[in-house]
Amino acid sequence: MSLELVELLRRSSLFAELAQNELEALARAAELREFARDEVIFAMFEPADGLYVVASGRVKVCISSAEGKELIIATLGPGQFFGEMALLDDEPRSASVVAQLTTTTYRIRRPEFSRLLDASPSIGRKLLRELSLRLRRANAQVESLVTLDVVGRLARYLIDLARQHGQILGNGWVAVRRPTHQDIANSIGTTRETVTRLMADLEQRGLVVNEGKMSYLKEEVLRREGE
Ligand code: CMP
Repeated sequence: MSLELVELLRRSSLFAELAQNELEALARAAELREFARDEVIFAMFEPADGLYVVASGRVKVCISSAEGKELIIATLGPGQFFGEMALLDDEPRSASVVAQLTTTTYRIRRPEFSRLLDASPSIGRKLLRELSLRLRRANAQVESLVTLDVVGRLARYLIDLARQHGQILGNGWVAVRRPTHQDIANSIGTTRETVTRLMADLEQRGLVVNEGKMSYLKEEVLRREGE
């Protein structure tokens, strides 16, 4: 059991209130699993083996249509968890989860998760809070898909990306590991070509700067774009 893992669990959205000995027991039971970029962690409709906590990297939660069209409904980063729904409702996986960047996770198997849920009311409370937050985000995504044009959807997507995964640099700019244009397109219901054109426009206007694997976003201006 590593101290690093105990710290990760303590800082995670789910296990923050566990006592030190409970965190240590959880860390002993957690299994390290590493994934290359674009590797499928599990697929929609598979039976569930456990809950995953992201240690590093980023994952995308996707639903695919029969024609192979992919909709990305969420992205999750360090300290966040996924795979809880199928454990809670005893149904197959509700979506596929794929590594968007090189990603390290810890898996907590179903029996251990059930035991924790029974033993610790704080986990149930935090779970409900996080599920409510995710439902709010999903509602906002539906609203955005129905009411905004593609320029507005891209602006809102970039703001959400910056808020959820960005590092504030303190000068009005936010740094974030850049998703591919295809992933952005699959998140906002448009084509890769449209995203490439719109991102080039934002770059030309100095609202987005791309450097290596990073994007730098001017948060204030992007927010006005979304209105
Ligand atoms: P599960 O159904 O076990 O497997 C797919 C996982 O994707 C699911 O658990 C959640 O952890 C996650 N997930 C599904 N829908 C959403 C959503 N709207 N927002 C964030 N995460 C989601």
